[in-house]
Amino acid sequence: MPTIESILHETRCFEPPHPFTENARIKDRATYDALVEEATQDWDGFWARRAREEITWITPFTKPYRGDHATRHTWFEDGVLNASVNCLDRHLGAHRHKPAIIFEGDDGATEIWSYLRMHQEVCRFANGIKEKGIQRGDRVVIYMPMHPRAVVAMLACARIGAIHSVVFAGFSTKALKDRIADTGAKMVITADEAVRGGKTIPLKQTVDLSLPKITKKSSVKTVVIMRRTQADISMKPGRDLFWEELTHGQPDICPPEPMGSEDPLFILYTSGSTGKPKGILHTTAGYLLGAILSMKWVFDYQSDDIFWCTADVGWITGHTYVAYGPMAVGATQLIFEGTPTHPHAGRFWEVVEKHRVTTFYTAPTAIRSLIKTGKELPKSYNLSSLRLLGSVGEPINPEAWIWYKETVGENRCPVVDTWWQTETGSHMIAPLPGALATKPGSCTLPLPGIFASVVDETGHELGPGQGGLLVIKKPWPSQLRTIWGDDERYRKNYFLHGESGKSFYLASDSAVRDEEGYFWIMGRMDDVLTVSGHRLGTMEIESSLVASPGVAEAAVVARPDDLTGEAIVAFVVPHGACPTGQAASQMAEELRQWVTQEIGAIAKPREIRFGDNLPKTRSGKIMRRLLRLIAKGEAISQDTSTLENPAILEQLKESL
Ligand code: WT7
Repeated sequence: MPTIESILHETRCFEPPHPFTENARIKDRATYDALVEEATQDWDGFWARRAREEITWITPFTKPYRGDHATRHTWFEDGVLNASVNCLDRHLGAHRHKPAIIFEGDDGATEIWSYLRMHQEVCRFANGIKEKGIQRGDRVVIYMPMHPRAVVAMLACARIGAIHSVVFAGFSTKALKDRIADTGAKMVITADEAVRGGKTIPLKQTVDLSLPKITKKSSVKTVVIMRRTQADISMKPGRDLFWEELTHGQPDICPPEPMGSEDPLFILYTSGSTGKPKGILHTTAGYLLGAILSMKWVFDYQSDDIFWCTADVGWITGHTYVAYGPMAVGATQLIFEGTPTHPHAGRFWEVVEKHRVTTFYTAPTAIRSLIKTGKELPKSYNLSSLRLLGSVGEPINPEAWIWYKETVGENRCPVVDTWWQTETGSHMIAPLPGALATKPGSCTLPLPGIFASVVDETGHELGPGQGGLLVIKKPWPSQLRTIWGDDERYRKNYFLHGESGKSFYLASDSAVRDEEGYFWIMGRMDDVLTVSGHRLGTMEIESSLVASPGVAEAAVVARPDDLTGEAIVAFVVPHGACPTGQAASQMAEELRQWVTQEIGAIAKPREIRFGDNLPKTRSGKIMRRLLRLIAKGEAISQDTSTLENPAILEQLKESL
């Protein structure tokens, strides 16, 4: 495989700022190097020591790592713990009245939830769902807006050993239905409606549409509804009940279920290149350890921080850095229901000022849209409380990085660009902000204990400046254990078995290292798009298009986009003649609506092109590479002789 060409010319480098370094947990490069060295010398001992220090155990473990160093891994296997105890009970001493969550509603109303209140709510809700028959190992789908009760629902599952699977509230019927079916969930927890940016989203109605008409056929026996807007919703007797009915009269104490380290904590669906979304399975202790350590190492967590991660609980970022990480370290965090620019373009900065936020973690797409809607706006707010800024979800372009650092961070705050994935559970490559110099556009170096590298297809390590496959060479505690219900796909998808006989975890991202070993992520290797920092499979969008009555075939690719990172371009082959002019725009609009209905607005194609066919190899494989060039408006200089139908390229090029 020829190495991937990198077009990287960034040379700016920033030392950790003073006075940040003075109070930082890891204050200098030498301390970081020593941690890396400790992990290199004694890799599982390194993790075992951290696990003993950071986790509250019911029964301590004796075995740090057991596995085959390839696809099977267990960490701290014989240990017994409960994740909700680590997130709640252990803070009920000195910190019982400390705010756990500051909730900022879409309309600007604020609520403060202490650790004591969270504990009581979790216990009462846990008792309630137990009474409804939910037991250890059962799956519960959570389809809720950004609200403290979304975290309550997750931690209540953890308390009784049920496996939660949160579905992003921006997804609609088809996506929700597939996930409910794949998990075999017994219960769905939702709200009447969500409120975002002044608009309401009918969550309960979507749940109703997602559950089979005949209840007998569905695994779902109970739907619990949180009232958010008091909207008039239909209630199915015997199946549906309100949150207050469930918790009414329940004691605010619930004994935690003793869980093994390797017992499943949650399933979270993410897109893969082929087939349906993958239910990524995370287990208890290793996941928790990754969340806790990265809170301390990367976010440099301090007890008086006001931590704000803007991600929705429907994504892994909202699991690790809303539901589990901040709670496990006993932080005060902000949960925001709204959108960055409602009711005005300065909303994010207004919220930072209002709640004196110290740590702010968001996605490049949000940063870019904030630059666009109000480059100078941050200056009109008091952002002096901020001490650390973070970025996640996609590569951040150096100009956005610099703006973030200068205009939002006022050159006082380090910027941590964090590379990780749903599958990795927690940060993998990211700066320890007091220790590492940062470079705009680079996620810097792996965390201590993480052995990342860039290799070619045979597993040989590549040198500086040579782009290749990003791999992780050794197992780590918070990595996925399998794909729910599809272990074979897990084993096939995620590992590179190198010529040396060693197996590496394969991230499906391309990357390059510079002379100082800094990692620069170049993008995805598979047919997965990153739109607004969210990974979307082409497959799911294509299937939805093909499910529309007028469509015979569809292929979806991405083209770079200033705002959303990547924009979706769909190539569609209709049944019958190809529409042109007005008919084409009308059909395109109908299809965009269709995808929004089926999967959600996030998957809506920006552009739809019609053709009589798609470019295919003689074996019938769609040549997405060529479609990508057409979508970008670039010339096709590559060899197209392997194409079954070369003439189709001209038609698709002219189809706009
Ligand atoms: C993919 C994972 C991890 C939480 C959000 C997304 C891309 C993620 C970065 C970054 C460059 C990044 C990668 C990765 N990605 N963070 N800092 N720089 N690319 O989770 O949906 O599992 O997507 O997002 O392509 O593989 P996800």
